[in-house]
Amino acid sequence: MTSAAPLPIPRAAGSLPFIGHALKMRDNLAFIDSLRDTRQPLIEIVLQPGTRTIVVQDPALIHQMLKTLAPTLDKGRLYDKLGQLLGDSVVTATGRPHVRKRRQLQPAFAHTEISRYVDIMRTEVTATITRWQPGQPLDVREAMVALSLDMLAKTVFAGSLDDAVFRRLRSDLSVVMNGVGVRLMLPDWAERLPLPFNRRFDRARAGVRATVNTAVQELQASGHDTADMLSMLLRAIDEETGKPLTGHQIASEILTLAVAGTETTASVLSWALYELARHPRIEARVLAELDHVLGERDITLDDMPRLPYLNHVITETLRLHHPGWIVTRRTTEETPLGPWTLPAGTELAYCQHALHRDPERFPDPLTFHPDRWNDTTQEPPPGAFLPFGDGKHKCMGDRFARTEMVTALATMLRTIRLQLPHNHTIRQTARLTVRPHALKMTIHPRNHPPTQTPH
Ligand code: HEM
Repeated sequence: MTSAAPLPIPRAAGSLPFIGHALKMRDNLAFIDSLRDTRQPLIEIVLQPGTRTIVVQDPALIHQMLKTLAPTLDKGRLYDKLGQLLGDSVVTATGRPHVRKRRQLQPAFAHTEISRYVDIMRTEVTATITRWQPGQPLDVREAMVALSLDMLAKTVFAGSLDDAVFRRLRSDLSVVMNGVGVRLMLPDWAERLPLPFNRRFDRARAGVRATVNTAVQELQASGHDTADMLSMLLRAIDEETGKPLTGHQIASEILTLAVAGTETTASVLSWALYELARHPRIEARVLAELDHVLGERDITLDDMPRLPYLNHVITETLRLHHPGWIVTRRTTEETPLGPWTLPAGTELAYCQHALHRDPERFPDPLTFHPDRWNDTTQEPPPGAFLPFGDGKHKCMGDRFARTEMVTALATMLRTIRLQLPHNHTIRQTARLTVRPHALKMTIHPRNHPPTQTPH
């Protein structure tokens, strides 16, 4: 019996012998965006010599990949690299270990916990703003990374740590996060070069492991339950060995969660502040909504759904400036995808950044337009808008992240105003996430009048 030959999957233009698309990847975002313009549902790129990656561009096929095919897919190259750097964790695992790890961490993201976190998040935002000097330029992304790390660490990790230990953990995690972003783009051998950058990374990663190990030993010795993630992981039993998790396993979960939950939130918050500074009318509407709903009081979890316009601003930021530029998977067996059949071991990828800027689904895609989310009957089709992914690997921190972003923006915007330099154009850089490059804004108290032309 003969089966129909599969349709050929085209290779993207610009591939060179031996190096594939390495030259094109120097401007990775422009390259990935250019793939979308080919309007091919699947297109092949060569990131490493000898390795084909199929970029899935059609929303229906992305949906199939993330939902129906999920049980038979590995997480692919991006996560292999993350696992090498940070150890096995819920983010890198697949199959039964993944389900088990997700179950272990889930209680930290339950509704009751998040409602407790809002007060801590607000306190961290207020403390951050208090340290800023009016009239001074602020490196916005750096500030948002520090704030996101504080919000995450003080809510889910820190119950077990005293202040000095917490500060050390925070500083080591911040070195690890920056290092991971750079290393994802480098060939593996570059990590072994005896460069100061590599040594700093190795030291910080070892520092995080040592801190977590000590905290685990102290918690074990004291028998206390501090009700934070460390305690939660300490109580968990590894179903394979029947024993409690080791300090190494717990540190791997914490390292990966810090990376997954800080880089992303920091990038989205930075982009939101940038867009609000560029669009004073949108900012004014956000402030009017905050005044109307909150008056003089602080924000609480119950306010989240009562701020539809601020929520639309965040959704629009997640559309126009999604931090994910490549998310990977890999087939573990011969796999049907639409009319194609892919052999085992095929690397797959999808890219929210390009997907969310598709003019066919989002008219005038490069314009920041929160009102496009007003009409809830016009939701994008499945697979076309994936701010937090979909299927069994959907973001565990989606509710946490939205709560953080609403709390941070509501608290910051009512106190300070950030101003862009005149005629400022911003470049975007794609490392671990797509982030604004060298975004500096001047801090003013909120009563300072805007000096820019409204867009
Ligand atoms: C704006 C902020 C965030 C965005 C845009 C975001 C986006 C995503 C996306 C797209 C995925 C799916 C990746 C895939 O399909 O392979 C994901 C997974 C994940 N995210 Fe987030 N995330 C954010 C914040 C957070 C936070 C704050 C946390 C934790 C505190 C977190 C924890 C995770 C975890 C653990 C996974 C892996 C889930 C699994 O594989 O089961 N994320 N995130």
